[in-house]
Amino acid sequence: MLVNGKPYRTIWLNQQDAGSVEIIDQRFLPHEFVVEQLRSLDDAIIAIRDMHVRGAPLIGATAAWGMYLAIKQGEASELNSLQKVGELLKKARPTAVNLAWAVDRVISKMSCCDGDTIDIVKLEAETICEEDVEICRQIGEHGLTLIESIASNKRSGPVNVLTHCNAGWLATLDWGTATSPVYQAQQKGIDVHVWVDETRPRNQGASLTAWELGQQGIDHTVIVDNAGGHLMQTGEVDLVIVGTDRTVRNGDVANKIGTYLKALAAFDNDVPFFVALPSPTIDWDLYDGGEIPIEQRAAEEVIYIEGNFNQERTRVRLTPEHSPAANPAFDVTPARLVTGLITERGICGASEAELLSLFPERLGRNG
Ligand code: MRU
Repeated sequence: MLVNGKPYRTIWLNQQDAGSVEIIDQRFLPHEFVVEQLRSLDDAIIAIRDMHVRGAPLIGATAAWGMYLAIKQGEASELNSLQKVGELLKKARPTAVNLAWAVDRVISKMSCCDGDTIDIVKLEAETICEEDVEICRQIGEHGLTLIESIASNKRSGPVNVLTHCNAGWLATLDWGTATSPVYQAQQKGIDVHVWVDETRPRNQGASLTAWELGQQGIDHTVIVDNAGGHLMQTGEVDLVIVGTDRTVRNGDVANKIGTYLKALAAFDNDVPFFVALPSPTIDWDLYDGGEIPIEQRAAEEVIYIEGNFNQERTRVRLTPEHSPAANPAFDVTPARLVTGLITERGICGASEAELLSLFPERLGRNG
């Protein structure tokens, strides 16, 4: 997608230096556009853990490139050492299943193919990235049908989509998942407006989703996390589309903390609540959302808030000095609150049977 009119992806191999992978360091957005060089396995782990990159598909792609960097720097050479590297990467963030999925995919490619290890791993990392772009594009095509149908039934005004966190192109390689239908609606000339949840505590909505929508010229409004229910009651939300970090066989959806509350409000107000779901985010090994590991992040993210003041990056304290804070980073929305899952193969209900109707190759087996 565009940054100041120039097309970018979120991660790429440096074309001048094959020992370096470049990322957009998302900690600095929206105030500064910073490109960071990753040169080692440690750089990749830190980038994932400390959220220089984030979003389930991008975390997976970064892990694949992290394995490439480990081999390039001589930190791994054989399958055994690559497995150890994979275990380190998997520990960087626990909830998004794309991380383990990408690591396992690189390892299985390496164990089944003959040839130069570095070439095999590089090709697999590139393939994971290219596939993600195509998956997100297809999710957009299917999600577009929802926006088109609302637009054709509305007498006036834009189609109002509410989204939570950032499931935009910054969370993927390109297009995004939840935002892809919006970008494709814009290309079709449909009048669309996005309510952007700020998404405390790290404010991915206010700083990332708002920024990327603005860069593409999409009409949007940032709201506090608590405003969504009110806007749904007053008829100002036509459709909710969120992303997911892990969706399990029964259709339960883990996503950024606060998603569950939006689903409850949508259910109570008959607002359709859709989840944009790339297939690598489906955990076929788990049957119930209660089994999903929920990342607990540092209390500092709740206690302090960061922003720009007089062009300077600033951190200020919000809470009383002795009040403890808790920071569960994700929650699970039960399948019964989900109107549908938008996958690259089409839209289905949030249940094992409906998921299997789109992914029949998963019938009768796990993993
Ligand atoms: O903590 P984050 O910023 O990595 O959380 C991101 C989300 O919750 C996204 O909605 C999810 O990863 C889907 S991204 C297409």
